[in-house]
Amino acid sequence: MLKKRVFVTRKIPSEGLDIINQEFHTSVWPDEFPPSKEEIVDMATDCEGMVTLLSDPIGADVIDQLPNLKVIAQYAVGYDNIDVKYATQKGIIVTNTPGVLTETTADLTWALIMSASRRIVEADRYVREGHWKVAWGPELLLGSDVFGATIGIVGMGRIGRAVARRAAGFNMKILYTARSVQDRDSEVAEQLGAQRVDLNTLLKASEIVTLHVPLTSDTTHLIGKSELAMMKPGSILINTSRGPVVDEDALYQALLTKQLGAAGLDVFTEEPIRLDSPLLQLANVVLAPHIGSASTRTRSTMAKMCAENLHVALSGAKPPNIVNPEVL
Ligand code: DGY
Repeated sequence: MLKKRVFVTRKIPSEGLDIINQEFHTSVWPDEFPPSKEEIVDMATDCEGMVTLLSDPIGADVIDQLPNLKVIAQYAVGYDNIDVKYATQKGIIVTNTPGVLTETTADLTWALIMSASRRIVEADRYVREGHWKVAWGPELLLGSDVFGATIGIVGMGRIGRAVARRAAGFNMKILYTARSVQDRDSEVAEQLGAQRVDLNTLLKASEIVTLHVPLTSDTTHLIGKSELAMMKPGSILINTSRGPVVDEDALYQALLTKQLGAAGLDVFTEEPIRLDSPLLQLANVVLAPHIGSASTRTRSTMAKMCAENLHVALSGAKPPNIVNPEVL
């Protein structure tokens, strides 16, 4: 039997790619840089399946040009780059990779919390650049305490809960917002004594605010000028969700004026962030290049999961991680 055609928009770890290669007639985009829309359409013409990354714009315009497409298997938990509503209308299954990257992303969130609070990146530069002249300084590189602080978790889904579990080890008071009923009743929240509050209360009361919401029209610029103004002076903002959840210009001003003490950012409005972004000039920002899920083990697991979703969906069954079950 003729193998089905699949386009993989980047070289994903071999644990998944090998499976895809065996089962399908596969083409893989050879470059590190994402294909353009035209290149996606060109490569995926005649394909029934596609493996996509969050930097691939899969809108109605692309979908319309791929009449054979049946499955889009996203190699990520977030899928805001895909017009899922339109894919559903066209009968295309969309899958993602939830769960397997939860703990890894929570770890990175904590790396940013610790680095931003205790000025670790600044300290590293200070040493390397030869500024460390006095053995011990009573006021050298003072940061803020994490232990015992109040953390505000915006979005108590899987990753939010994993962040909360770690916060308990730091004896923190945990506040959170949650929209879905499932997340509101979260056992973890109960076990940890976390308190659900509205966003404004959370912003006003927390020393550390960390964002764990998907990007939707409701969450775009969820944290803007007025929200930043509500935050405690000197408090810390962490974003490992999606860049546009924060108004970056407003964030820059809040950091410049020291309304905020620091920020830890793994995601940006434009990725990669432009080298002339003013955020790069600020010492009180820790920056990472969207590496929340970037551990070797997690990326391999994501690749396997993606391959499994693709295989099951293209065999006509319901894939384990379907985003739009209504399509079936
Ligand atoms: C995701 O999965 O949505 C992350 O942003 C990348 O792993």
